[in-house]
Amino acid sequence: MENVLTLDKETSQEMYNNVTVEKFNNIQTPFYYYDIDVLKNTLETAIKASSKYNYHIHYAIKANANDRILDIIKDYGFGADCVSGNEVSKALEHGFAPETIAFAGVGKSDLEINTAINGNIKAFHVESVAELEVINELAAAKNKVVNVAFRLNPNVDAKTHAYITTGLSENKFGINPWELESLVEKLPEFKNLKLIGLHFHIGSQILDMSVYKELAEKANNFLDWFEANDIKLPYMNFGGGLGVDYDNPENKTPDFEAFFKVINENFNRRDNQEVHFELGRSLVATCGDMISKVLYIKKGLEKNFAIVDAGMTDLLRPALYKSKHAISNISSIEEEVKYDVVGPVCESSDVFATEFTMPKTRRGNLISFHTAGAYGQVMGSNYNLRDLATEYYSDEI
Ligand code: LLP
Repeated sequence: MENVLTLDKETSQEMYNNVTVEKFNNIQTPFYYYDIDVLKNTLETAIKASSKYNYHIHYAIKANANDRILDIIKDYGFGADCVSGNEVSKALEHGFAPETIAFAGVGKSDLEINTAINGNIKAFHVESVAELEVINELAAAKNKVVNVAFRLNPNVDAKTHAYITTGLSENKFGINPWELESLVEKLPEFKNLKLIGLHFHIGSQILDMSVYKELAEKANNFLDWFEANDIKLPYMNFGGGLGVDYDNPENKTPDFEAFFKVINENFNRRDNQEVHFELGRSLVATCGDMISKVLYIKKGLEKNFAIVDAGMTDLLRPALYKSKHAISNISSIEEEVKYDVVGPVCESSDVFATEFTMPKTRRGNLISFHTAGAYGQVMGSNYNLRDLATEYYSDEI
């Protein structure tokens, strides 16, 4: 495993004030802690950057589906991006306006499609010809015409972890360019579908903005092709993927300015065309930390293990992607020692960091895993019949 970043003592102590740490000591660990001010600040920054260009942002619910988080995001006026029927239902229950809800995914079941048709959502992001046929049939049975956007596979390398790259030809996602001609020929047969636009999503945790330049240029070419075939597309959706700074958890604000700017500078937007995005990680990652307690310090031959009470069932990302979350011991300011920070689950991959330097650590110390608000709690499982971690909010404890 690559080295996990060591926060210096001052930085890690400054991340929470003493009162908060005192409160943490009285809460059953592990738990997720969400800082509402950080969340609101992030949402406001995203809105400020996108509204310059009149862009619409859908929140990718998969990143964190906690009720409070959804309510706050909805109140700021974001739409929703869903990848299951249950996410569509959840968005509707939380009051996201149907006309701001998009539904993507390579494997939508009939039940899920019907949920979305009944909910009168904005658009289905369709990933294959076979899926178009099924949506058409199900819409026809309800005497409805539904909006669809083609999710195209633009073959752009997102230059991120292979497991979170989605826009290459060999990925399972999206319709490939060579299928478009026959698809467009078939379109008139689909009487219950209305093609409104194009959708892309090329990957996640993207920090290299040149990737989005390439995407915008490909989108221009696709639009030219559709227009040459007399098809006008009023809806464009560039997906999500903007990355966050995992190495510096005190940097709470992703670079929304650069993200929207690169699209604006390179995408040749048509008159009256709506431009949409689906952001998950960049909106919620920085507001959340996972807090755990040290159970045991165990000495190996040459190593010290800090065994914490949170495991891969609470935060899966390090085990699944070898991803790095900055870690800090928020109870100790003693001299620094190296530890392997590991969880209690019966799997060798249940490791958060190896050879990691932190203040001398003892049983009962609180350990924080930073920048865990996105794809953290929501990917939890009860493997080993472990309890799911619960959540606390900064304005409630
Ligand atoms: N739109 C679509 C169609 C998606 O599949 C995703 C994420 C998003 C938007 C939001 O992407 P974001 O802005 O969050 O990067 N579990 C992984 C990330 C999986 C992302 C899946 N799709 C992780 O922990 O890194």
